[in-house]
Amino acid sequence: MQENKITELFSLKGKVAIVTGAAGGNGRAIAEGFLNAGALIYFVDISKEELEKTAKSLKNQKAKYIIADVTKKDDLEKIISQIIKEEKKIDILVNNAGVTIGEPSELYSEENWEKTYKVNLKAAFLLSQVTAHHMIKQKSGVIINITSLGAEQGFSNNPAYVAFKGGLKQLTKALAQDWAKYNIRVNNLCPGYIKTNMTKKSWDDSVSREERTGRTMLGRWGESYDLVGPAIFLASDASKYITGTDLYVDGGWMSKGI
Ligand SMILES: NC(=O)c1ccc[n+]([C@@H]2O[C@H](COP(=O)([O-])OP(=O)(O)OC[C@H]3O[C@@H](n4cnc5c(N)ncnc54)[C@H](O)[C@@H]3O)[C@@H](O)[C@H]2O)c1
Repeated sequence: MQENKITELFSLKGKVAIVTGAAGGNGRAIAEGFLNAGALIYFVDISKEELEKTAKSLKNQKAKYIIADVTKKDDLEKIISQIIKEEKKIDILVNNAGVTIGEPSELYSEENWEKTYKVNLKAAFLLSQVTAHHMIKQKSGVIINITSLGAEQGFSNNPAYVAFKGGLKQLTKALAQDWAKYNIRVNNLCPGYIKTNMTKKSWDDSVSREERTGRTMLGRWGESYDLVGPAIFLASDASKYITGTDLYVDGGWMSKGI
C-alpha cells in the first residue's frame, strides 16, 4: 500500500469525537492525539478548572469544551444534543472518565461502591446508548471504553474498581454484538500502570512504584502519551475489521510469567 494511503488509514480528518474525563491524564492525551490526527474534539470533564487550563494551553479551534458530570443523565443528553446541533453527527466516543476509591473490601462503603459504579460503568453505558441513537442513524460509529488491568485481575483493597472495570470490559462485548449490524465498532483499550493523578499515590511510594515497574515486561510505567497511537488505531479505519476486543497497552503486564 502507498504511503499516502497508509496515512489516510490512520487519519481522523473530518471526524467528530467526544472524550470524557478529557481534562485528566489519559483523556487529555487521547483527545489531543485525536486533534492532531485531524478530528474535531469535544473535551468533556466535571472539572471546570482543569478544562479551562486545558483550553488555555491548547488554543485550538477544533477543540471544544463541555463541563459535565457523566453520572447525570441530563448532562449526557445535553452533551449529545449540543454536538448534534453544532456538528450534525458523532463519529467517535471514548468513555474514559473514571474514579478509583481504595478501601479494604470488608469495610468498603456503599457510598463509594455506588460512586464508582456510576462513573466507571453506568455512565459509559448511558452515554454509549444516547450516542448510539445517532450512530445508528448514521450507520457508522466507534466507541472505545477505557478499561484497566483491574478488569482482568484482582487488585487488593479496591473491590468496586475491579468489579466495574470488569463489567465495562464485558459491556463492550455486549454492545459490539448488538450494534455491529449498524456498523458501530466497540472496543476496549486497557492501559497498564500510567503516571497520572489517579496513580500518584502508588507512584509517590517508592515500594509500590518499584513493584509495578518490576511487574511490567518493558520495565517502566507508561506515560499517557503511550495510549495515543493505540487509541487512534481503534478510532480510525486502520481497525475497521476489529470489534468487541481488548487492546492491552500495558508494557507486557498481562502476558508476564514468573
Ligand atoms: N492511570 C492509570 O494507570 C490507569 C490504568 C488503567 C486505566 N485507567 C483509566 O484511565 C481513565 C483516566 O484515568 P487517569 O489515569 O487519566 O486519571 P485522572 O484522574 O487524571 O483523570 C480522570 C478524569 O475523569 C474526570 N472525571 C471524574 N469523574 C467524572 C465525572 N463524574 N464526570 C466527568 N468527568 C469525571 C476527572 O475530573 C479527571 O479529569 C480512567 O477510566 C481510569 O480508570 C488509568
